[in-house]
Amino acid sequence: MYRRGFESLPQETHVDDLPVDGDIPEWLEGRLLRNGPAQFEVGDQAYNHWFDGLAMLRAFDIRDGRVSYRNRFLESSSRTEAMEQGEIRRSEFATDPCQSIFGRIMSVFSPSITDNASVNIGRLGDEVVALTETPMPVAFDPDTLETAGVVDYADDLDAPVTTAHPHVDPDTGRTWTYAAAFGRQSRYHVCSIDPSSTARNVERTLEVDAPSYMHSFGMTDRHVVLTEWPHVVRPLDLLLSGKPFIENYTWQPERGTRIRVIRKSDGAEVATATAEPRFAFHHVNAFERGNAIVCDVVTYPDASVIEDFYLDRLRDPETHPAMGTLRRFTVPFDGGEVASEVLSDTKIELPRIHDLREGRSYRVVYGVGARSPNTFADQLVKVDVETGAAETWHEAGTYPGEPVYVPEPTATGEDEGAVLSVVLDPEAEQSFLLVLDAESFEERARAPVPHAIPFGFHGQFYP
Ligand code: CO
Repeated sequence: MYRRGFESLPQETHVDDLPVDGDIPEWLEGRLLRNGPAQFEVGDQAYNHWFDGLAMLRAFDIRDGRVSYRNRFLESSSRTEAMEQGEIRRSEFATDPCQSIFGRIMSVFSPSITDNASVNIGRLGDEVVALTETPMPVAFDPDTLETAGVVDYADDLDAPVTTAHPHVDPDTGRTWTYAAAFGRQSRYHVCSIDPSSTARNVERTLEVDAPSYMHSFGMTDRHVVLTEWPHVVRPLDLLLSGKPFIENYTWQPERGTRIRVIRKSDGAEVATATAEPRFAFHHVNAFERGNAIVCDVVTYPDASVIEDFYLDRLRDPETHPAMGTLRRFTVPFDGGEVASEVLSDTKIELPRIHDLREGRSYRVVYGVGARSPNTFADQLVKVDVETGAAETWHEAGTYPGEPVYVPEPTATGEDEGAVLSVVLDPEAEQSFLLVLDAESFEERARAPVPHAIPFGFHGQFYP
């Protein structure tokens, strides 16, 4: 059963040559780096939520039709301190070791926010980094997966929450992100980072009364789109409530979803509109069409999906997490109403597109899906956003993770190449790297690893 994907994996391994079943395309050469939690207990304590588990890096090197594999814990301060002291030391998304108000205030004002960067992989300056939602990117050696340490941003921006989903502009190579600062006046800072730099340039600061939990944002070639889901926090509660970070946020549907469009060239807020209340983790893509911004997101009716991801619920055979809906918001620049429409009947999460379609019109989104409401992600999907039609890959009893599209060197379309996914086979007590043909969405090859890898979040392929 899929619950195997929420158990700790203590082994760190390196296998030079995984068995390969099938034919890996000759042109497919590079490294898939993935991130996700792999340790859910410290001593006799346990983390509460899927997003809390201690990060483990996983690497698949593909060359000449062969695959090597390595997995290694991220040696964050969060993990190091916990292992040394035999107890959870730092506050995570939904786990908070600080018992007293005094302890909480100290943790807010000291640099002990978590660096357990378990969510994504990216580049910052000249480093490959693991990313999470605190501004503590952790650099590591992509060859050995050895942790180098937290990269200090070369700026003095003071904002404790950010996104693990920065966008890289395909033309300029600049990275765009946002960071939230909490206080008497809370703020979102929209920032850009030049290639090879680690300084965040604040392009625009927006004031906000009740900051929204925004796991990601949208970006076109000319604009950044912040979607403020009505899952919001009173900043003082973060300090005084004594609750873990995310439990301070409350669902306030009467606010609706506020969409704020920021022009990248000068930081101007060029459109602000309100749509119906929704919640989302993941933006899929955004682009401009006529006098409007099209913003595609994987949405939920409300924020209860966050509760679905508590580990006791994920491990409970009676409960199953919600799966997302592919939705399009169209925001006119002239102040008109937002249009909101469902693009496909096929449920989806962990959406990925061709990296070079970032900010541009596109047709294809890859993701995971569920064949019924009574399971976890048990298929891969490829959805045509124009028609809503979907193709799927599924194998009974297996559970695939985020699909990463790798274009063939000569590709001009969005599905000429391969789709890579790490799939859990609980019965076999192992996971395997799956290589799909992106166009037919059929299996080309698989390479099993010698253990079951817990479900991860995101990763990147570097040719
Ligand atoms: Co994410």
